[in-house]
Amino acid sequence: MNIVLGISGGIAAYKTPELVRRLRERGADVQIVMTASAEEFVTPTSLQAVSGRPIRSNLWDKEAEAAMSHIELARWADLVLIAPATAEIMARLASGGAPDLLTTLCLATEAPIAIAPAMNRVMWANPAVQANRKTLEKRGMQILGPDHGSQACGETGAGRMLDPDVIADAVCSPEFAGASADGVLAGKTVLVTAGPTREPIDPVRYITNRSSGKMGYAIAAAAHALGARVILISGPVSLQEPRGADVVHVETAEEMHAATHERIADVDIFIAAAAVSDYRPSEASAQKIKKTKDTMTLELVRSPDILASVAALDDAPFTVGFAAETENVREYALGKLVNKNLDMIVANRVGADCGFDYDDNAAEVLWSGGEKAFDKMPKSELAAGLMDLIAARFFATRGAETQPALSIVSIKE
Ligand SMILES: Cc1cc2nc3c(=O)[nH]c(=O)nc-3n(C[C@H](O)[C@H](O)[C@H](O)COP(=O)(O)O)c2cc1C
Repeated sequence: MNIVLGISGGIAAYKTPELVRRLRERGADVQIVMTASAEEFVTPTSLQAVSGRPIRSNLWDKEAEAAMSHIELARWADLVLIAPATAEIMARLASGGAPDLLTTLCLATEAPIAIAPAMNRVMWANPAVQANRKTLEKRGMQILGPDHGSQACGETGAGRMLDPDVIADAVCSPEFAGASADGVLAGKTVLVTAGPTREPIDPVRYITNRSSGKMGYAIAAAAHALGARVILISGPVSLQEPRGADVVHVETAEEMHAATHERIADVDIFIAAAAVSDYRPSEASAQKIKKTKDTMTLELVRSPDILASVAALDDAPFTVGFAAETENVREYALGKLVNKNLDMIVANRVGADCGFDYDDNAAEVLWSGGEKAFDKMPKSELAAGLMDLIAARFFATRGAETQPALSIVSIKE
């Protein structure tokens, strides 16, 4: 991987020689581009020595520009990583300005851009910095960190640059590098639903649930890393879109149902990770409902069952459901597996201390003739494990002449 490492003028720049070494250890070619302020913190000579390439810093350097123009540099990059990223460079990137080499090549590149912010905790919490972070995230930039801990200024809080090892691990991971063309799911299409749905009561109120979408988004990224074409149909969440997925945003269960069936024809694997509202108000009021009575009753009607409707298709894809339950997890999951005629079900307990909105998750996966338990781990790791298992079961059943006979006994409905 060719990485343009942009270094801006924060105190954490002293860690960049180590970051360069960590990236190179993982097989990356690193071309450094420094801002003028960065040169106050770390010398180009040290960085040239560890990167093995001349340092670029000046947009108006005629010789360097003749050797490799900033546009060529922008094309050369498989990834632009800015570490540390100062509050100032975040502002320049958010505004779309290009007064220096680093910001100019950020505008000129088609490569993904990742930044590792590093600054004093009060600076990081400043609304202007947070607004810029959100803008950059919305545009698809990966924001790595910052970390929480003691800072060079003597304070403690959020704002430290992530450890060079952690940054190097993150950007050199398969999910970050994009799908592998020879991944096991290359040529296959995976459709994932994720997040909650919102069922309107009136123009200002709705019924929803605690789903954060993190599990579904992690599964979409893991499917992409295995080489699949990924369609992600997402309810309202505040997560960054996973790279490589075609993301369709919806709000209600009915919209998610329609968006799924519009795209299902060419799908090989359907993974229903969304927490779809089972019920919705029978009628959404056109005007805000006023506070006139002591009690009020909402009539709810069943929402369409997206999972069952896909599994019931004549030419149904390999269909994986999720069962998030607070009790009798295994029993309910088995019932869902059989009643909805699924190929696989991923069961997990949800409650005050686990499941929705947590970064870690455990799961029990059940299918006709087998099962596998995953201990609690980060959702990204769990998603990678689940996708490996789903891909293996997909090929085992869809590649064979006949489907294995159902051998799970004592299923309760
Ligand atoms: C000693 C010192 C340390 C600094 N550390 C940081 C820092 O950690 N993060 C940050 O955002 N700005 C920091 N600054 C401020 C930036 O250097 C300043 O905003 C500069 O204009 C950034 O320019 P650049 O983004 O083009 O590199 C520091 C300034 C000084 C003098």
